[in-house]
Amino acid sequence: MEFIKISLQYAPKIALVELNRPKELNALNLQLMKELKEALASLDNDPEIHAIVLTGNDQSFAAGADIKQMSDLGAIDMLKIDQFSTWDQIRKVQKPLIAAVSGFALGGGCELALTCDMIIASETARFGQPEIKIGVMPGAGGTQRLTRIIGKARAMEMVLTGKFISAEEALSYGLINKVVPVEAYLQEAINLAAKIAKMSPIAVRLAKESINRAYETHMDEGLHFERKNFYLLFASEDQKEGMQAFIEKRGAKFKGR
Ligand code: HXC
Repeated sequence: MEFIKISLQYAPKIALVELNRPKELNALNLQLMKELKEALASLDNDPEIHAIVLTGNDQSFAAGADIKQMSDLGAIDMLKIDQFSTWDQIRKVQKPLIAAVSGFALGGGCELALTCDMIIASETARFGQPEIKIGVMPGAGGTQRLTRIIGKARAMEMVLTGKFISAEEALSYGLINKVVPVEAYLQEAINLAAKIAKMSPIAVRLAKESINRAYETHMDEGLHFERKNFYLLFASEDQKEGMQAFIEKRGAKFKGR
């Protein structure tokens, strides 16, 4: 598939996906979301890729769903378009997904960043769920994912007033991993991806899956799930290699098997 609204770049073991509607502050129209879903699905299936960085540009990660595209639609149009099946597929990406956020991460843009596994932000990043100001509410996980991460009181304030929070506030809320100067956020995210890309991809996949379970189930079932994945890793060559390398005081060479 040829991509127009996003672009792809590759570094060893890492893919960089850039949202590419700069004039519209990377507003997430249906075409962009379709391309993003296709790109992520294909990267998820590519054994050469171990981690994915998702970014916008310095001015805007994404300013939300495309308001102009949605404004005249009715409920049944929205139902038929079924845009959230695209979002569900993004949520199911098995490889680590790191958002590199600068400028606006609003509405669906904030939700897209939250769908990623980690967020590196520039000092200029602004996070918000301003849907309330245009007569709607978050629809791609904002009331659920945001609330689980930052708690009810802060989520209520953000969602009911539409206020933006700074990168520093987002860091203090536990919403993001790190804040760096605008010149550095993308490289910082790539460095984080590169660190993870050196690990056993099987262990990374099962660890990601297990952490995500913590948000989806109760403790007993979560611990059971974690234990099964832990046992499963002892069937991998990477476990033997990783432990042997430690004993022999050398770097591990993981093969993803
Ligand atoms: C369509 C958008 C847009 C959006 C910006 N633009 N955000 N177009 N959908 N979400 C367009 C503007 O219309 C304008 O194009 C251009 O981008 C630049 O925007 P300005 O408003 O001129 O820039 P600025 O004054 O700097 O203000 C930036 C901003 C503001 C604060 C980000 O644009 C804004 O409030 N945007 C909407 C944010 C929002 O409400 N997001 C939530 C959407 S609902 P033109 O051609 O007019 O100059 C949502 C629901 C998610 O996300 C549900 C799940 C998918």
